[in-house]
Amino acid sequence: MNIFITGSSGFIGFHLAQKFLNKGVKVHGFDSMNNYYDIKLKKARLNILKKYKNFYFTRGKLENEKKLTLCLNKFKPQIIVHLAAQAGVRYSIKNPDTYLNSNIMGTFNILKISQKLKIKHLIIGSSSSVYGSNKKFPFQEIDKTDHQLSFYAATKKSTESIAHSYSSLWKLPITMLRFFTVYGPFGRPDMAYFKFTKKILSGKKIDIYNKGRMYRDYTYIDDIVDGIYKLINKPPNLNSKKKIKNDSISPVAPYRILNIGNTKKIYLLDFIKTLEKELGKKIKKNYMPMQKGDVHSTLSDSSLLKRITGYNPKTNYKVGIKKFIDWYLSFYK
Ligand SMILES: NC(=O)c1ccc[n+]([C@@H]2O[C@H](COP(=O)([O-])OP(=O)(O)OC[C@H]3O[C@@H](n4cnc5c(N)ncnc54)[C@H](O)[C@@H]3O)[C@@H](O)[C@H]2O)c1
Repeated sequence: MNIFITGSSGFIGFHLAQKFLNKGVKVHGFDSMNNYYDIKLKKARLNILKKYKNFYFTRGKLENEKKLTLCLNKFKPQIIVHLAAQAGVRYSIKNPDTYLNSNIMGTFNILKISQKLKIKHLIIGSSSSVYGSNKKFPFQEIDKTDHQLSFYAATKKSTESIAHSYSSLWKLPITMLRFFTVYGPFGRPDMAYFKFTKKILSGKKIDIYNKGRMYRDYTYIDDIVDGIYKLINKPPNLNSKKKIKNDSISPVAPYRILNIGNTKKIYLLDFIKTLEKELGKKIKKNYMPMQKGDVHSTLSDSSLLKRITGYNPKTNYKVGIKKFIDWYLSFYK
């Protein structure tokens, strides 16, 4: 099996690529290595992957259709996991164009090429942020998602619709995976837990939005990778006789949306307390109002993914934070 992973120098793509490489699968990574956050971190991830002899890599932008096509035609993957995107809610307020280009145009190019190559399963990274201002918790895939609060979330929702049309027109098997706040070693420096850690260690105050009155479904990276790994050979199949309870499969296309979360609500202040304990430092807090574009809380119902693959997230957030801190301290010395 050949797997093509976009965003392979990113947080999730890197861990996923490593998992497949360790299983002896041939992986081709594709990433622009942009400087949205510390490029040294992306290089460090890439250097680890380059040590595997079954790893191939192309540096390029998704928007460069010619380069992407050449690369995919040569590698001939059966599976594509499309994780390259401009992520981040806050950055999308001031830089919407980047999101339009990377997330919409980039995904469109992946769809066009996947159709031509008759890809057996295309998995695309979506986000819990598409649930926007929904008030019914936990979020289920069959819930309405009509009210995104940030431009980032709107591009993710748009790619879900665009992907559905392609799946319907060309019978292209697609799974959209809605991630819920993924954290862990080699994580993303633009995310709150990472920024908090950096500030705590340098004795700086941290901004806490909505006075900390919010919760998130924090999902540890190993659980995410395990979920994707189990899903690879389970493309949505319209002809399947097996009925699955509360299935989100489209009635007209081999297309399905799946939540992938830890399914536990963790209040922001509890998360911060654990960081304080692990770092052995008291945090100076700066309470702020709710941030523009941010969702209040998130919580996933991931039982559909469990019914399909046996997905079973195991990492308690206290264990996960400890692993992140251990990595952080050794990486940044
Ligand atoms: N980490 C999370 O908590 C989370 C939550 C919800 C959704 N997601 C989604 O999961 C996916 C992976 O997220 P991540 O946390 O690994 O992010 P990341 O930013 O660490 O990785 C994305 C990678 O894509 C690359 N990239 C960006 N634009 C590109 C382009 N136009 N062409 C080629 N490469 C490009 C970047 O260089 C980066 O290495 C994204 O689609 C993201 O929106 C992540």
